[in-house]
Formats: sequence, C-alpha cells, structure tokens
Amino acid sequence: MTIEFRDVHASYDAATPILRGVDFTVEDGEFVAFVGTNGAGKSTTMRLINGLLKPEQGEVLVDGVPTTQLKTSELARRVGFLFQNPDSQICCGTVREELLFGFRALGCLDEQAEARVDAVIDEFGFNPDDDPFLLNRGTRQLLALASIVVLDTPVVVLDEPTTGLDYRECVKVMSIISRLHQSGTTVIMVCHDMEVVGDFAERVIVMSAGQVVAQGPTFDVLRDRATLEAASLVPPQIVDISMALGMMRPALASTPLAAANTLDQMCDAVAAAVGATYSGVRGLEEAR
Ligand SMILES: Nc1ncnc2c1ncn2[C@@H]1O[C@H](COP(=O)(O)OP(=O)(O)O)[C@@H](O)[C@H]1O
Ligand SMILES: [Mg+2]
Repeated sequence: MTIEFRDVHASYDAATPILRGVDFTVEDGEFVAFVGTNGAGKSTTMRLINGLLKPEQGEVLVDGVPTTQLKTSELARRVGFLFQNPDSQICCGTVREELLFGFRALGCLDEQAEARVDAVIDEFGFNPDDDPFLLNRGTRQLLALASIVVLDTPVVVLDEPTTGLDYRECVKVMSIISRLHQSGTTVIMVCHDMEVVGDFAERVIVMSAGQVVAQGPTFDVLRDRATLEAASLVPPQIVDISMALGMMRPALASTPLAAANTLDQMCDAVAAAVGATYSGVRGLEEAR
C-alpha cells in the first residue's frame, strides 16, 4: 500500500505554518526512515498519514485515496500508528484487554481476533493479566508496538519507536519491526538514532523546518555530508571513518569502501582498507 504526499501544507493554527510543501512517496513494502532535528515536522507528517491532522493545502493519499475521503476507521484498518509516547496509546487495565482494544474499536472483535491476540501475547512473551501501567518503560513500548502488530495493517507508522529504550530493548523492538517489514508490511519510521537508520531503513527522507530537504537510498543520504550538516544530523561514526579513509586514499574510492550498503559491510571495508581483519560481529546482530 503506497503513501503519497503532494505539496502538503499543514499547521496546528493558521498563524503558524508547520509543513510547507511536503512531497514524497513511500512505495508498497518499503522501509523508509524520517530523520531531522527536533521541531523539523516529522511527527506532524506522521499525524497527517493517520488522519489525525488534515492538510490545509495539497493532498495526503493512502493507497491513492485522499485521507480527507477516508473515515477514521477506514484509515485505521490501513495504517497502524505508534505514537512518540507509548503512554498516550495505552488505556486498558490488562495487557490482553489492551491488545483486544483495537479490534473492539474497529468493531471486528471475533474468535479469530482473540486467537490472534493470544498468538501475539505468546510471541512477545507478555503476561496477559499484567497491568500495563505497572510495566517498565521498555515493556510498555513493546506493548504499544504489539497493539499495532496485532492488527496486521498493511502500513505501520512508528514515531521514534526506540527512544528511551536501553540497548537490549532497542534490539528487541527493531527485530520485531524488521520481521514486520520482511513479511511485506510498509514501514515508515521516525528515528533520531542514525545507527538504527543505517541498519534497517532502505530509504531515508530528511526533514528540516517543515520541508523535505533530501531523500534517497539510506547510504547515499548517510554519505551526503553537506545535506546532513545542513539538517544538523550526524551520521554513524563508521560512515565518517569510511569517508575520511576514502579521502585520504583516493585509490580506495572504487573498492568495497565506496560500495558498502550496510553498516556491517562498511565495518568490513574499513578494516580491510587499513589492513586489519574485522572479525567481530556488530553488536546489534550479536544480541539478536
Ligand atoms: N500539538 C501542537 N500544537 C501546536 N504546535 C505544535 C504541536 N505539535 C507540534 N507543534 C509544533 O510543530 C513544529 C513541528 O513539530 P513536530 O512535528 O513535533 O516535529 P518533530 O517531530 O520533527 O520534532 C514544532 O515547532 C512544534 O512546536
Ligand atoms: Mg516528533
């Protein structure tokens, strides 16, 4: 299912424009990361995708249909939305009730839905009777994510799903998101952790001051120093090191160093370029 923004302008009050002509398309099954400093307009863009906010000018199309023509429930069946703060998403007294809530809200709570909820409880390793508000921050985030996963929407929008999590929790959340993507779900994720972006996103859209200032395949964007600097973003350290090596030894420009398309390949290429053997498995892989 595709998501398309055409010259979208939006604001919370007419006097203060927030989005100023946003254009992009996310294709069916893609994993796209949105990056940009605080206040760039990323969360506002996400709110437009799930219809919480409507464009003042331009169009937001979900599967070719403007969000202004879709009922909230129709949108909710197409797009699962993880808020920046999981607590704004959790409202029930038990974990199981929380996971049933989406089906109830959509009026499609049946035996099949209950079976799906129980399968997700097993998959995530939750205790169904736990009180969500007594869970720790990481587990609450996982519960909020599970409440999206359980609905099996063709698109998921995730606003900073790893913020505030420790390393292990981050790995767990990202492996669930990665599995969703592998099963064909379109993933749109706001993320300030450029390592996570480098490890998981296929394409990156850079926002600054309410506009899209760059977009492209993840490693094209991560290597684009000028654009990242203009948007006050810092690439993963290994990208910096590989770029510096490439500049110091121009002969390396046509080697795996220049062709690396994952952070792992980049680590290998940097090690090879300096004549070392890189034998360590990168942490994220190791912990999986
Ligand atoms: N509910 C709101 N009411 C008024 N202004 C808001 C609201 N939410 C965000 N803004 C403003 O919109 C701008 C973009 O915010 P946001 O989309 O949250 O950026 P980001 O997610 O990239 O940090 C900021 O200037 C912010 O202060
Ligand atoms: Mg935000």
